[in-house]
Amino acid sequence: MSTVGNSTNIFWNEFPVGKLERQKLLNQQGCVVWITGLSGSGKSTLACSLGRELHSRGKLSYILDGDNLRHGLNKNLGFAPEDRTENIRRVGEVAKLFADAGLICVASLISPYRKDRDACRAMLTDTEFIEVFMNMPLEVCEGRDPKGLYKLARAGKIKGFTGIDDPYEAPLNCEIEIRQKDGVCPTPHEMTGQVVTYLEEKGYLQAE
Ligand code: ADX
Repeated sequence: MSTVGNSTNIFWNEFPVGKLERQKLLNQQGCVVWITGLSGSGKSTLACSLGRELHSRGKLSYILDGDNLRHGLNKNLGFAPEDRTENIRRVGEVAKLFADAGLICVASLISPYRKDRDACRAMLTDTEFIEVFMNMPLEVCEGRDPKGLYKLARAGKIKGFTGIDDPYEAPLNCEIEIRQKDGVCPTPHEMTGQVVTYLEEKGYLQAE
């Protein structure tokens, strides 16, 4: 029987420099900050501002952005449920590598299905996956409509748009929730502060 095309007869190679040593070098702890939420909920805004803040504190981070990755690594995927699942799986695997490299990997994707996010969580240890839920009402996201896509979805010109005719499943046990206070959205500075405070308090911004 042919085994060509199957991942058989493969082995795991160990290398001399490990995650702990890389973390020492960087004086931080490798992890994945997974930002999930509707289109227009502020995921990229938070990722951007968080990346800047971490950089200014001398911490090495890298942003994996859903839209950007769909220009390269995930350019062969669409928005059917099985494509989204594969999109999230690939990004989960890449994020895991970045975390192992010792980086604070910021993944910013709608990632609408709970089982797909949970599968990414399961790829990592308990403390390595930090789920950040952008809990913004659909009306707010649709009102912003930065790319004009909600308008197209409402007009039936985009099918299967998250929040309109495709579901968004909110996290049940996220580490961080970003939400409005008294009907006012937090500023990028406030959202970033919330995440950085979490990272600081849990010790991610120094080596073990
Ligand atoms: S995910 O659902 O697979 O996690 P991802 O974050 O990679 O999505 O990409 C979402 C981006 O693709 C949105 O910001 C939007 O610009 C664009 N997009 C195009 N079609 C859709 C659609 N049907 N649903 C959601 N986003 C879409």
